[in-house]
Order: sequence, then structure tokens, then C-alpha cells
Amino acid sequence: MEKSLAWWKKAIVYQIYPLSFMDSNHDGIGDIQGIISKLDYIKDLGVDVIWLSPVYQSPMDDNGYDISDYLKINPMFGSLEDLLKLIDEVHQRDMKLMMDLVINHTSDEHPWFIQSKDQDSPYKDYYIWRDQPSDIGSVFGGPAWTYDAQRKAYYFHLFSKRQPDLNWHHEPLRKEIYQMVNTWLDYGIDGFRLDVIDLIGKDIDQKRLADGPLLETHLKELYDTCFKGRDIITVGEMPGLSIERASALTDEHNGYLNMIFQFSHISLDEIPGQGKWALKDLDLVELKKVFGKAQSIFSKRGWNSLFLANHDQPRVVSRYGSEALRYESATMFATMIYGQQGTPYIYQGEEIGMTGVTYDIEDYQDIETKNIYHILKEKGQTESEIMTSIHKKSRDNSRTPFQWNNKPYAGFSTVKPWLKVNPNYKEINVENELNLEKSVLDYYKKLIKLRKTYDVFHDGAYHCLNDQDQEIYAYIRKNQHQTLLIITSFSNQETIFNLKHIIFKETLLNNQDYLIKEDNMICPPYFAGIFLIGDDAYAND
Ligand code: GLC
Ligand code: CA
Repeated sequence: MEKSLAWWKKAIVYQIYPLSFMDSNHDGIGDIQGIISKLDYIKDLGVDVIWLSPVYQSPMDDNGYDISDYLKINPMFGSLEDLLKLIDEVHQRDMKLMMDLVINHTSDEHPWFIQSKDQDSPYKDYYIWRDQPSDIGSVFGGPAWTYDAQRKAYYFHLFSKRQPDLNWHHEPLRKEIYQMVNTWLDYGIDGFRLDVIDLIGKDIDQKRLADGPLLETHLKELYDTCFKGRDIITVGEMPGLSIERASALTDEHNGYLNMIFQFSHISLDEIPGQGKWALKDLDLVELKKVFGKAQSIFSKRGWNSLFLANHDQPRVVSRYGSEALRYESATMFATMIYGQQGTPYIYQGEEIGMTGVTYDIEDYQDIETKNIYHILKEKGQTESEIMTSIHKKSRDNSRTPFQWNNKPYAGFSTVKPWLKVNPNYKEINVENELNLEKSVLDYYKKLIKLRKTYDVFHDGAYHCLNDQDQEIYAYIRKNQHQTLLIITSFSNQETIFNLKHIIFKETLLNNQDYLIKEDNMICPPYFAGIFLIGDDAYAND
């Protein structure tokens, strides 16, 4: 089906985690002025849209995903004036700014929650209160209910106990939220990333949490009241939603959001049903199956977002690739994901191949990591088992300060940052990348440029050539003008890809040299390449 190519379908989005991007006032914490000072760097990469993780007023129990005032900026990040300046500076560079919208819950310091503890307050129904708790657990471990002595009842929180869930059944609450959303849009921001938005339709008594019975009703109301008629970009974070539902909710004609972060491909390195800390190796055949399904479903309806990393996910190189072959594996993963159909999201530092960390437990700051350490201890796991999981999966892996240069604290700050800098900053940093002949950064720029040169990346059909191969992931993208072949090797050994009757026309991009012997391509470890090929062999897709 022919689809219109709205600007956000062709856009490259770059996520900034403000705590860790750039500190301008020497307090060890990233801030808005710091971001402004680095906008040229982001623009130079080829980015069109910046997604800014929360900078609102917050006690920072969950690093800003616990908001105590939606319309105020947290002084640690700057002022509202700074933010308006940021919007302006972003627009001057012909980019757009997308804010994070966290409306499933607030902070326990939000005045609504404080007043909600009073039975007689007009805010009494803004949160979810029950006389008795149920057995629902929190995402960060432990029960999802906490007793409040003032109200003499339990309140519901799917995340930390300092993040009470809002009661979306209550109309006055919804109206206040919509008003706040419109206020931000009227300030001139260009869209939202909606935090765990699949949870707002929940029915806790029926234990239907993600994709709950009222999800579509609420999304429609939000869309009609705030988004409709505005030329913005919206992406809903929906960890509990199927690919099929994600495609329906992003339908071009009667959907409510432009696209969704769907997580089927993200959970493949965990033992099914046992949660993110139960580790398992990534199986390439499974990964292809999940991506293939998404590519096929979204080609018919809705729109996909392409991501491997964010502030909740560990660094890709350390998670699935090889730190020893950092350049190779970082560029291979970028090629594999951004060659597909959808809107690419780059998480800060991915473009320079930043890696994860293996700190002692005292050096972690993330609430989820701290909680799970104690929970796994209580369950009887050994220290070394626990730390293996934490090193692999902790959210702090991706939250360490951005590595700008080899000066102390990686040029992120002049004082000790809020979270320890990755000790490899002297080797891995933007300045070094700019001086290297072959760098992850340079490859990202070329890849982004290529996506902007060939529309086939946006509208081409997807066809995987080797579903069952355990080492190489090769797929075709084809429209009426071009046929692309994308070859990526997940192996740390040399591998062979059989070219059969493929006719090469041109190499558009490759991360390393390769050899062709008869009809075989000899691929070095973590090889990635994008080729223009003849379309005869794949005439009918
Ligand atoms: C989302 C955010 C995550 C946060 C959680 C609760 O998943 O990305 O960082 O902890 O929601 O707000
Ligand atoms: Ca600062």
C-alpha cells in the first residue's frame, strides 16, 4: 500500500538524557545550557529531532520520571527561560524538540498526591486508593501498594513507591493533564515521547495493566484534545503492547500516535517469563523473526520506530556485540537496525560506540538496580550471580556521563559527576572519534546521509534472505526505483555469505573490507554493508 511520507517518517531522532549529556555550570550534573552548547554536534550528525528525557521539577527518585510539577523546570537543569531558549536554538538549526511526557504517575511530592491523602480534598480521587492491597507487584520489585497513614489506605504504584499512579478513571484529572499538555505544545515544542503510556487504560481489579480496557478511549481523548490538527511527532512507550496492537494504534487514519516503542526485540536476551535479570544469549534467528514480523505488519498499517538502546537499556556493544571489536560491532548494529523501515532513534553515545560499565554496587545510582540487588540477595542468589546480571542489564550502563574528550571526567564536567564516568573515556570519546580515520561517529554520519539519499529506506518493502542463518542477517529493501541488500554479521569470526544470483551494482556503505570468491562473500567479524543490487532475483516480494 502506498503511504504518505510525513516528515517524522524520514526524521532521525536523537535522545538526550539530560543528567548525563553536558554540564555547563560545574556541579557534576548535565543541564539545559550544556545541551545548547552541543547542538551543533547533534546537528552535524544529521539529526532532525531531539527527544529530551524529563527536565521537570522532580525529587529525582527515578531520575526525573517522578514529576512534582509538570510546568516547572528542575533547577538542577536550568529554568523555563533556558528551556525556551533551547527550543529556539533547536529551531534555529532546523531541528525539532520532543519532550518526555510522564502521565501514568507523578512524584509523591506532587501537590495533587499530597492533597489526595486527605479524604475531603477535591484531589482525593486523583490517585488509586484501596482499603486492601492486591498481589500486583511493582516493576522495580516489591508490592505495587504502599500504605499511607494519613489516608489510612493503600495507594497504587507500578514503579517506585515514590511514583504513585494517577487515576485515569477520574475525569477532572484527565482534564488537568490535557491542559498541561496543551500548555507545553503552545510553548512551541514539537511533540512528545509518552512514558509507559500503555498503562493508562488499566483495570487493576481485573489485573489488566498494559493495554488495558480503557487504553484506546483515553488515547483518543488525549489525541482529540491535544494532538489533533498539530504538526507534531508523538511516540508512545508501550512495553506491554504486541506488534499487532502497536500497528493498529498508529494507523494513519484512525490511530492516536505516530509511532510506538514496542519491545519484542528487546526482551530476547532474557529467559522468557523470568524478567530482565535472568540472562540468556541473544538468538539471531529469534531476532530476525521478531523484526521480520514487525516489518511485515507495519508495512500494511501504522508506523514503526527503530531502536536498540535508550536510557533504560544497556549499551548495545556490551550487550550483544564485542567490546574488543567495538567499532565493528557498533557499526554493524546500527546498519542492521537503521536499514529497516521506521523512524530511527539514536541514544546519546551510541554514535561513538560507548560501552557499558562493571561497577561495584555502591557506584550504581539507579533505583531499579539498587532494589533488585536486595531482592535477589533475599532470594538467595550469590553476590557474583547478582553482579553478573547487574553488569549486563543495569540501566546505569547507558546513563554514565557522555564522553566528549580525554580530559578529567571526559569533558562532561569539571567536577565529579553524579554518576561515575566510564573508565574507558580516554579511548572512547568524541574528540578521538573525530580524529580517527575509521570511526563509529563517521560511520553513523554516512549511514544517516544514506538514509536521506534513498527513499527506499523509508518506503521499500523488506524481505529477509536467511531467516534460519545463525551468523548473518541479510535483508533486501526494495521499491520501484532501487533494490538494496543489507548484510550484517553477528559473528566474531569470519563468515561466508552465499550471493547466489545476486547482481551487485554498487557498494553504498561498508564498515570493513570484504572479499568475493566465486559467488561467496567472505565477511570479517561483525561485517556490515549496504549494496545496490539488480532486482531480477527479487522481482516479486
Ligand atoms: C519508563 C522510563 C523509565 C522509568 C519508567 C517509570 O519506562 O523510560 O526510565 O523508570 O518509565 O517512569
Ligand atoms: Ca550542571
